Amino acid sequence: MKKGYFDEFGGQFVPELLIPPLSELEEACGSILPSESFQEELSHLLCSFAGRETPLTRCERLSGRLGFTLWLKREDLLHTGAHKMNNTLGQALLAKGMGKTALVAETGAGQHGVATAAAAARLGLACTIFMGAEDVERQAPNVMRMRLLGARVVPVESGTRTLKDAINAALRHWIAEQRTTHYSFGTAAGPHPFPTLVRDLQSVIGNESIRQCRESFGRLPDAVVACVGGGSNAIGMFYPFIRETGADAVRLIGVEAAGTGEPGCWNSAPLNLGSPGVLHGNHTMLLQDKDGQIQPSHSVSAGLDYPGVGPEHAALHKTGRAEYSMIRDERALRAFAALCREEGILPALESSHALAWVLDNAGDLPQGGHVLVNLSGRGDKDMDIIQRHMPALYEER
Ligand SMILES: Cc1ncc(COP(=O)(O)O)c(C=O)c1O
Repeated sequence: MKKGYFDEFGGQFVPELLIPPLSELEEACGSILPSESFQEELSHLLCSFAGRETPLTRCERLSGRLGFTLWLKREDLLHTGAHKMNNTLGQALLAKGMGKTALVAETGAGQHGVATAAAAARLGLACTIFMGAEDVERQAPNVMRMRLLGARVVPVESGTRTLKDAINAALRHWIAEQRTTHYSFGTAAGPHPFPTLVRDLQSVIGNESIRQCRESFGRLPDAVVACVGGGSNAIGMFYPFIRETGADAVRLIGVEAAGTGEPGCWNSAPLNLGSPGVLHGNHTMLLQDKDGQIQPSHSVSAGLDYPGVGPEHAALHKTGRAEYSMIRDERALRAFAALCREEGILPALESSHALAWVLDNAGDLPQGGHVLVNLSGRGDKDMDIIQRHMPALYEER
């Protein structure tokens, strides 16, 4: 297999000026990352700063009516509210090991921006976050959080003024500042080595889950379900399970965002509805028109609103080792409401897509079995959207 490829997907499709920092990063991934001292320091930070390990929660009431036991991996309980912290702490520590003094990152919903800003502050690094101007308006509380944590937030006015434009701007900044700056990429996509680096940093989710499942019910679950934006929480959960084969093989289900689901409307489901092409430095599945122009994506959850997906998911989709399904905005909102009212947990709208798949496909899952959903984040950031879409949910009863 060619370096940095997963089947036919992946690679390093970047301007020549980005090759030196990518090569430097690749070298650090081979030397600093696996070292005992790095791994020890990262484990300590993940535990004492971020709050690992996260628990596995059994959904008592939902399980009763589903006919199987539903378990949640509680990444929502991590510091700053989502799985993003696993990645940003690892990359910030790696940046320090490489002698860098600053981080640059992109953000869409703001979760990766907040997690990067927090990791930078903790480790004494300067921090610049590029964010589409549209997202700066939509996600004002997260902009404030990043600024409070000491980051410089730069609104990006080009293109659709959303995540893909923020990534372009952050890559340009990295080209100019590569001597002092590390690009802390937010998902398991982008040019090699980011898909592998982010996957390895997020694999703590799947590794912990395997141990916790064995402790809780004595075996691996029948199915594992995660939402897919760029793909980092899903690959972090799936990757350790891929090793388990034979009688222990686990069904892996990734859930993309179908948007409103109305004909002709935009979605965020490149694996289900896209075709192969190149975006942000890697060959993967994309939403594009017949001329190869990237199409705008849409989802009620900003974190899933991306026209591409990580190359390892494109390969798992092609080989069939993982299944990828789609959930509409309205079903995700219903699942959000169900978890609030029946289990006392406010999930992120991104994670609500994974939950919705389980609630809508219960008949396709083994009765009496065990199903694990990665609850990638908490819903506090989504209150404005909930208020707009489901006013009845929060009205006085
Ligand atoms: C809570 C949450 N879940 C999922 C995602 C999607 O990202 P990924 O597919 O990289 O996990 C995001 C992105 O912002 C997020 O905030």
